[in-house]
Amino acid sequence: MDTTFTPSSDKQTRLLADASQYLAGGGLGLFILPPELNLVVQRGEGSRVWDVAGREYIDYHLSSGPVLLGHAHPEVAAAVAAQLSKGTTYYFLNEPEIELAKRLVEAIPCADQILYTGSGTEATFYALRIARAYTKRNKVLKFEGAWHGMHDYGLWGTVPSSPSNYPHAQPDSVGVPLETGATVLVTPFNETQRAVEMIERHAHELAAVIVEPLQRVLQPEPGFLEAIREVTQRRGIVMIFDEIVTGFRIAWGGAQERYCVVPDIACYGKAISGGFPLAAVAGKEEFMAVLDARKRPRAEVVWATNTLNGNPVCSAAGVAALNILSRSGVQDHLHRIGSQLRQGMVESGTRHGFAVQAPGEDAVWGVRFTERKPLRTWSDLTTSNKDLGVRWGLELLRRGLMVNPNEKFYISIAHTQADVDRTLQIVDDAFAALKH
Ligand SMILES: Cc1ncc(COP(=O)(O)O)c(C=O)c1O
Repeated sequence: MDTTFTPSSDKQTRLLADASQYLAGGGLGLFILPPELNLVVQRGEGSRVWDVAGREYIDYHLSSGPVLLGHAHPEVAAAVAAQLSKGTTYYFLNEPEIELAKRLVEAIPCADQILYTGSGTEATFYALRIARAYTKRNKVLKFEGAWHGMHDYGLWGTVPSSPSNYPHAQPDSVGVPLETGATVLVTPFNETQRAVEMIERHAHELAAVIVEPLQRVLQPEPGFLEAIREVTQRRGIVMIFDEIVTGFRIAWGGAQERYCVVPDIACYGKAISGGFPLAAVAGKEEFMAVLDARKRPRAEVVWATNTLNGNPVCSAAGVAALNILSRSGVQDHLHRIGSQLRQGMVESGTRHGFAVQAPGEDAVWGVRFTERKPLRTWSDLTTSNKDLGVRWGLELLRRGLMVNPNEKFYISIAHTQADVDRTLQIVDDAFAALKH
């Protein structure tokens, strides 16, 4: 693999100019690369991606997580091709969606039933609506620094630069009505006593507590999730796990298996459909019953019907993805590859004189430039030197590692020992370049 930095090609330059003109914000909104490193992907295969200029990358972004199987997995491609020739969407029930729902229920500890959605954002949005309908209460509690998607209830206190005025937080985006904030309480992740006290104080008006069990790259401290589980159960509040990142990735049973806490409802996306746009809410029958128009009067049913939900192409991809992920050795492979990379990155950074840590799990982690230890809360993460993190990430990208600078590293089951060796060499070069 040649990692000397090749300049962009004419074709890629033309495409980027068109993207800049015709796509709002030039692409994916908040994700902006400097012009000399910006790229248009031509294709991906396994752990590798090539851009239109012919540059090759080892992919540690994986489309922000969905490509857990690696790019263009032949079994997913075959399952999708077989479905494509039979049609792409019917609205009426189809076999792959039923099969996938069954497989998800078998795998997910809290699941009796599944509601399909198109994106993770819709999944958390509907999970909160289900909780409100079930409890007949309006407010929800989320944790500072947690990412639950782009809807108006999720975008409070997601990336504040200073601690929020708990339980109030600032909206992350313009256009989010301030009135919505009156129904969203925010408190720090991993501050167990404080969270329990806030939940107790607002229990009479709280429909749900939603939590990313691995909050971005922060592991839950022992006892934190357990305490939230205990108080929500005791006070009749719905506990929602956002497993959109953790599901089928940090363990076959996701965070519920890894951290041994079972919520009432959980949200899934990213890895569950082999890179196709499908997400889901999974929950106990008691809660999912609010979606059941066969058993309740229309006026008491939660509306959550979208045109493409559970479409057969994405569902067929999902069944193939779960078949692959359920094989023995898959999780071991992720741990083996990920732990070497995490350890190697910290060792290399330290050797070059940087205070770096690699918080997270072996299948998904971050590298943060900070001396603060341990990293427990969002506020701890704000001590990290973002400028260094971004510059290091750009050095990696320049040398052929596909990363979102200063965000997360994701690995797939297609990453190999050779990828690890090559990556750690690049990581070392990037730290050396950063030092100079
Ligand atoms: C934990 C978590 N929840 C929800 C979402 C939103 O999912 P989507 O981007 O599919 O809307 C994301 C997206 O990154 C996420 O990481």
